[in-house]
Amino acid sequence: MTPRSVRITGWGMYAPERRLTNADLERVVDTSDEWIVTRTGIRERRIAARHETTATLAAIAGKRAIAVAGLQPDDIDVILVATLTPDYWMPSTGALVKEAIGNTRAAAMDVAAACSGLVYGYSVADAYLRSGMFKNALVVGSETLSRYLDFSDRGTCILFGDGAGAVVLSASDEEGGGAQGMELTTDPDGAYMIWLPSGGSRSPASGQTLARGEHYVRMEGKETYRYATKTMATTALKAIERAGWKPDDIDLFIPHQANVRIIESVAKGLGLPMEKMFVNLDRYGNTSAASVGIALAEAVDSGRIKVGDKIVLVAFGAGLTSGGIALEWTADPLNGKRAESVEPVATVREPIDWSSVDPIPDRLRQVLEGNSGPKVPLDDVVPGEPEPAPRDEVLA
Ligand code: ACO
Repeated sequence: MTPRSVRITGWGMYAPERRLTNADLERVVDTSDEWIVTRTGIRERRIAARHETTATLAAIAGKRAIAVAGLQPDDIDVILVATLTPDYWMPSTGALVKEAIGNTRAAAMDVAAACSGLVYGYSVADAYLRSGMFKNALVVGSETLSRYLDFSDRGTCILFGDGAGAVVLSASDEEGGGAQGMELTTDPDGAYMIWLPSGGSRSPASGQTLARGEHYVRMEGKETYRYATKTMATTALKAIERAGWKPDDIDLFIPHQANVRIIESVAKGLGLPMEKMFVNLDRYGNTSAASVGIALAEAVDSGRIKVGDKIVLVAFGAGLTSGGIALEWTADPLNGKRAESVEPVATVREPIDWSSVDPIPDRLRQVLEGNSGPKVPLDDVVPGEPEPAPRDEVLA
């Protein structure tokens, strides 16, 4: 039977304990707290501990969202994990998360839409549930971006952080509530504005690709910025119009947390005050697919959202993708307290006869240990053509 509505019933987040401040980054690259704060709004970001992975972060946020929804893990029919930093290329992170949350019956898979991942995942889950195929879906955005960053590239390492945010969507027999309008776009013109060159079929990982630093995120910051400021406002507006609403009707926007200047320009583009934009990037940086989920959970739990509110989730990311969902909030915000019963631990199945190398990149490890080593000179920080290094030296 098809439901009358599909609503958010659960929400949750998890951020690793370790903070990396702008002052910490000043010790590794040529930057300053003042530059980072004025150009991005970011003050600190979280860094996953050695024992944590994208799957463990996702499992904690997921378990919290399920508890908030008042459900048991086995009530979930489908699990979608949005990430650009999966534990492995295969199996999917979703498969690992399924077991880690204690679910025995769901279908699980990953969604690859970069920072728009949670919004894209929401749209897929919403369609499954509206069709009557499933009743409850868990959508998680989870990232360990610190493992994919070049901590000598000041254009990227200052921006990103680790974390996970999740929602549970449930089919309901009650009329109204949930997503009322959606807009999803993908623009391959910007495919190489944010990308990770090696490890795929175009350029399989090798000693050479490692030596060239092609396993790290690369980004054309300025171009991405231009695209984001244009697309976030138009995407949000289309979603709002599809709901039959006007920007003024919206109580709170939950935008992707990439740069406060981008969020300010969205507010300006829609003719709205910044009070209508939820911002927490000062504490987490850009957590890509996790960012909208973390922001939503914090917005509800801090009393910024009440039953009947009109909310817009809007994001942009590599692809270039962009997605907006205009929705009506129906869940009791006080249910958020149920997340407190979930301990911040998760156990993910380990492979047999294999253990990974230290997952923390060398330069990051030095910063975390308070021994930052020499600052990288400016003429070495532009990603592109570093000197090839012998394979053994790189892997040592
Ligand atoms: N510290 C100090 N100076 C810096 C730094 C830094 N960390 N980074 C760049 N600079 C310098 C530049 O070299 C440049 O110097 P110059 O004028 O002497 O050449 C100057 O600061 C200005 O550089 P811009 O690149 O023009 O700075 P801008 O104001 O555009 O800010 C930033 C850069 C923060 C990257 C911005 O462009 C941005 O936020 N872009 C969007 C990025 C983004 O959101 N990416 C995520 C996409 S989502 C996903 O899917 C992963």
